[in-house]
Amino acid sequence: MPVHRAGQPKVYLDNSSTSFPKPPGVVKAVTEYLEDVGCNLNRTGFATSCVLNKRTREARTRLARLFNYPEFKHVCFTTGITTSLNIALKGLLKRGDHVLISHMEHNAVTRPLFQLRRRGVSFSFIPCASDGTLDPASIPPLLKPNTRAICCLHGSNVCGTILPIRQIGAIAREAGLLFIVDSAQSAGVLPIDMQADNIDVLCFAAHKGLLGPPGVGGLILRPELGSRIEPLVVGGTGVFSEEDKVPDDLPMHLESGTPNLMGYYGLAAALRWLEKTGIERIHAREVELYEHLLAGLQQLDSLCIHGTQDSRTSLCVLAVTAPGLDIGQVAWRLDSKHRVSTRCGLHCAPWANRAIGTWPTGTLRLSPGYFTKPRELDYAVSALEESLWYVRKQTR
Ligand code: ALA
Repeated sequence: MPVHRAGQPKVYLDNSSTSFPKPPGVVKAVTEYLEDVGCNLNRTGFATSCVLNKRTREARTRLARLFNYPEFKHVCFTTGITTSLNIALKGLLKRGDHVLISHMEHNAVTRPLFQLRRRGVSFSFIPCASDGTLDPASIPPLLKPNTRAICCLHGSNVCGTILPIRQIGAIAREAGLLFIVDSAQSAGVLPIDMQADNIDVLCFAAHKGLLGPPGVGGLILRPELGSRIEPLVVGGTGVFSEEDKVPDDLPMHLESGTPNLMGYYGLAAALRWLEKTGIERIHAREVELYEHLLAGLQQLDSLCIHGTQDSRTSLCVLAVTAPGLDIGQVAWRLDSKHRVSTRCGLHCAPWANRAIGTWPTGTLRLSPGYFTKPRELDYAVSALEESLWYVRKQTR
């Protein structure tokens, strides 16, 4: 754990937003690129770029292995998962197509679809219960003759609820639909098997559960989609420069321009640590932290806890509201008085808040990560108790 410098939180509970701290080796790897490597990828004829190629390939290979995908060349990097989802939706859906999404989606899915609606693509929501759960049996009646895809997240960033992607993937396969998965919250924490889960496009973020730096994300696509997907951005690829169109080959089809190379270095180091530690161990630790925090929160009076309240169906994310109180003021007190970092509001997911009944004010979200200590959670629960008391006193 890093030393807490002035201005840094005492307890960081915003890992759903971005993970902190990063595992050993990540900072060093980023610095290594900046200090010792420094050159560009696929655009140089000198020897240092071989090291860079090797490291980039390492990151792709480890990601392919993590998600049980056989071909590392289909791991395409982007600037983040929002870009990845925009590429998947805008690059694969055409005028007249219909797509089904869950009611728990983030704006990274709903906003591109509202844009696409103006271009003749329609979408509908698969309903979710007030704990965020989705019943796969509700999907078949929603299918239309022009439904082309199902797109959904694996785990909710609002309240942690895990969606049954294996069953949803089976329905998509049976109906001949594309299955696009947003793994922002689950990659690095829950097992994801692109083959067994029937995932056609897996979108990921480097800086959350994968524990890498921000500014890198990506998508992994089934081979036949490589020639079908329309890139969002085109430009220099470093090779085939004589052509007026970008090459069809993945990953360069979707990777025009100089990428975030120090981010690749950091991500490769994070993936090395992740593989050594093991997803099972990370998940077990997060289950332990979730149950510890849940038990603490359940002791607090007049607090409403959202989500399934069950570690078998939830990620390590707890969302709370306090009836009659402004949850924003509680979050402010938590930060200013106790230096406990949480996030409050809609968490960029208005439709998820509608589904769980917390629209329009949202929730206060506590999201521990692998490196959080149980005693930090105890401190956060006491701090929350004091903050609720303080805001209640001010409200009277
Ligand atoms: N979507 C991220 C969050 O939930 C940023 O905080």
